[in-house]
Amino acid sequence: MGKKYVNAALSESHDKNSMPVLEGTMGPHAVDIQAMYEQHGLLAFDPGFRSTASCKSAITFVDGGAGVLLYRGYPIDELAQHSNFVEVAYLLMFGELPDDSELARFRASIEQHNLLHEQVLSFYHGFRRDAHPMAVMVGVVGALSAFYHDIMDIRDPRDRINAAIRLIAKMPSIAAASYTYSIGRPQRYPNNNLDYASNFLQMLFGAPNKEYEVDPILARALDRILILHADHEQNASTSTVRMAASSGANPFACIAAGIASLWGPAHGGANEAVLKMLVDIGTPKNIPKVIARAKDKSDSFRLMGFGHRIYKNFDPRSKVIQQSAREVLAHLGKDDPLLDIAMQLEEIALKDEYFIERKLYPNVDFYSGILLRAMGFPVNMFTAVFAVARTAGWASHWLELQEESHGIDRPRQLYIGKTLRHYPKKK
Ligand code: CMC
Repeated sequence: MGKKYVNAALSESHDKNSMPVLEGTMGPHAVDIQAMYEQHGLLAFDPGFRSTASCKSAITFVDGGAGVLLYRGYPIDELAQHSNFVEVAYLLMFGELPDDSELARFRASIEQHNLLHEQVLSFYHGFRRDAHPMAVMVGVVGALSAFYHDIMDIRDPRDRINAAIRLIAKMPSIAAASYTYSIGRPQRYPNNNLDYASNFLQMLFGAPNKEYEVDPILARALDRILILHADHEQNASTSTVRMAASSGANPFACIAAGIASLWGPAHGGANEAVLKMLVDIGTPKNIPKVIARAKDKSDSFRLMGFGHRIYKNFDPRSKVIQQSAREVLAHLGKDDPLLDIAMQLEEIALKDEYFIERKLYPNVDFYSGILLRAMGFPVNMFTAVFAVARTAGWASHWLELQEESHGIDRPRQLYIGKTLRHYPKKK
């Protein structure tokens, strides 16, 4: 990583007043402003972090202008086509693709840890049965910290890897239980004869009292969804995990914080919101009304599944998901009218000046809801599937942060409140 210097433009050009420019391996350089407050008494103001690199990371690279997404250097579409979720989780965590024996050992350790402690299952009974699965997941994943707190030392690299593996291993069981609890069906145990995605499907949709045959096409489609959602550099939920972790907090509690952040409709909750929007649209003839609402500044409505903070081009994940949705619908012999509405909506929006000017393209969530619905997932489980996938990314970022911690994250603020005043004397 090279070092250049720019003048801060805050005072006269002078070595003392120059700030280093850091060069990554790809993407924009970053001005290192860490010494700015000390040298100039000034803070950088960047709410929403539009121009701020909050950390160095070697995990995922996004070029939003070109529509590129790489995990450890590998393009997302190649991984979606040739890899599988467990291999991708290994790649994200350790930086390289595993060889056969590394992959077998990693898979075996996931299988070793995919059961939930029976006491964890009793937590579910504290929730209303109609609780949103994401609410349940925030609670249950946070509660895992009570199970593994004392036996884990986050300063020990082996304990850290174990915590990451436990999280990746248990998340499908936790997500599936949040659904089976809501419908009152006893939860199936994981079956180690099945791969990760097939196991998730059998726990979600299988009943313990009869055989459940996993459809390999659906398992492959789910595995692809998991790969596509596994990481996305410093998004809101990952940054939340990193910030929580910067204080040395328990990893399960940090991931629970990430799940909470993911739930919002501007982030992982968008897949659920897209489907609700398509159902509300109901028929293609209502599309112009919806487009008009999205453009109306006096209306808070946004076209869900469109736009992205980073992508100012097609989200490379949306193309893979759209293709997968078509394949699954064809395989199941289903003809979802919502797919037609989505495709027409996309076509109209992409020709509209408002969306062109603002570079608003379909994102990963635009078609993922249609695909998950075709596979039988209830709408309120969509974001839970996202959480299962993103756990691989969160865990990898948590591990990376432990290696290169820069101390506790402590943003500053531009104070705009009252200046000093004194408490009135009582008469
Ligand atoms: N519909 C209508 N207008 C939009 C939309 C949209 N979906 N997204 C952005 N805009 C407009 C926005 O009103 C603003 O217009 P103007 O410049 O006239 O004020 C302009 O585009 C820039 O918007 P922004 O809010 O500054 O953009 P952002 O980078 O802060 O927001 C976003 C990114 C994803 C939150 C936003 O595009 C959005 O709310 N999209 C819908 C929700 C969604 O699909 N979220 C999933 C994101 S991908 C999955 C994930 O990362 O979790």
